[in-house]
Amino acid sequence: MIEKSRLSKDSYKGVRDLYPEDMALQKYIFEVWRKVSERFGYSEYSASILESAELYEAKTSEEIVSEQTYTFKDRGDRRVTLRPEMTPSVARMVAAKRRELSFPLRWYSIQNMFRYERPQKGRLREHWQLNADIFGVPDPYADAEIISLAYAIMREFGASDNQFVIKVSSRAVLDNYLSEQGLNENQKKSVMKTLDKKGKIENLDEQMEKAAGKVLDFNEMDQNLATLNGDLGFEIETDMSIVRGFDYYTGMVFEVFDTSGENNRSLFGGGRYDNLLEIFGSDAVPAVGFGMGDVTIADFLSTHNLLPEYSYPTSLLIMSKSDEEFEHAKKLADTLREERINVALNNGENTKIDTALKHADRSGILYFILIGPEEIKSESYRIRDVKSGKESVAIAPSKIAEHILTPGE
Ligand code: HAM
Repeated sequence: MIEKSRLSKDSYKGVRDLYPEDMALQKYIFEVWRKVSERFGYSEYSASILESAELYEAKTSEEIVSEQTYTFKDRGDRRVTLRPEMTPSVARMVAAKRRELSFPLRWYSIQNMFRYERPQKGRLREHWQLNADIFGVPDPYADAEIISLAYAIMREFGASDNQFVIKVSSRAVLDNYLSEQGLNENQKKSVMKTLDKKGKIENLDEQMEKAAGKVLDFNEMDQNLATLNGDLGFEIETDMSIVRGFDYYTGMVFEVFDTSGENNRSLFGGGRYDNLLEIFGSDAVPAVGFGMGDVTIADFLSTHNLLPEYSYPTSLLIMSKSDEEFEHAKKLADTLREERINVALNNGENTKIDTALKHADRSGILYFILIGPEEIKSESYRIRDVKSGKESVAIAPSKIAEHILTPGE
């Protein structure tokens, strides 16, 4: 006898099962990402989720490499990492074909990432991320384009300008300022780390003084950023405390926040990284881009009532109660499918019509046809509107698609 299993029904900690409604939301998010990225001239690429562990050890973020990667040994003793972000992969891909590719390159991808984080609001162990990056343009117009693309995506989701704020800073300006203040490399690093924690720590001034070895004037730093605020056609804020966690950023960095106060962490962000390709022994290629996650965006959409209404994909259920009727139902379904109607078929001798209708309603199916001896003989069908219960007169198969596709007529 087989013993009943006690396997858990939960998914692995921090990852999601996507049931059809969750999947529909994710598809909607991806569609917006794809549509707007392509509108700005970006082409889609992809890469494997598996990368060699070294890729991240070279130049990314200490926290990610030492605490957040999923790294294991494969059967050939190679150290493998599930990608925690896309930037090193895309940099590798560009470096590998540098001579064949025509710059500027505008590339985007929508892929899943894994980070071993403590699951909490806005942070999971697997998320999907849009990455949009331009390679080969040192000019600030590329920085502006990347921010404009981020803005356009938020607008396409239906967000209005007062629901989110784009905060911009510059690693280069910060670095210059800190050098002018006489800080050495270690002190600079600790200042950046402390700035990155701003908002999460209480005694910021004290910590900053400790990191820098002196008192720094934030106002002065902010003034140094004023030049970043060019004419984009929408508002951005300059904020010196935006530094971002990765070591590879060299210039402009930005993060986007929800203004409602409901979602505290940044919704997404990015920046310029002009030297990353050098880790592959390639010449430097200027690059700028961002990563936008599906988890934080879904939270944002939900907070601002911007979630799309779920519509079920199946329009029609055809029900039959005998093998002969089922054969007939299948032929009718094939005809309708050729006309692009999504049709499901259920056959059951003992199924009550009421039960079938309830099932259709719970499955979000809008229309229902019952096949009986009369329908087989006349080859015309009454279409029931599942929600209202109203039934049409008997109509020919050639009229069914029209009836379903133009409701209310
Ligand atoms: P990141 O800020 O680490 O940047 O991630 C980008 C976005 O991905 C985050 O702002 C957030 O929306 C989402 N995200 C990151 N980690 C998680 C998580 N554990 N759970 C849910 N969502 C998450 C990067 O990864 C850079 N590589 C982006 C970039 C591209 N910079 C230049 N080009």
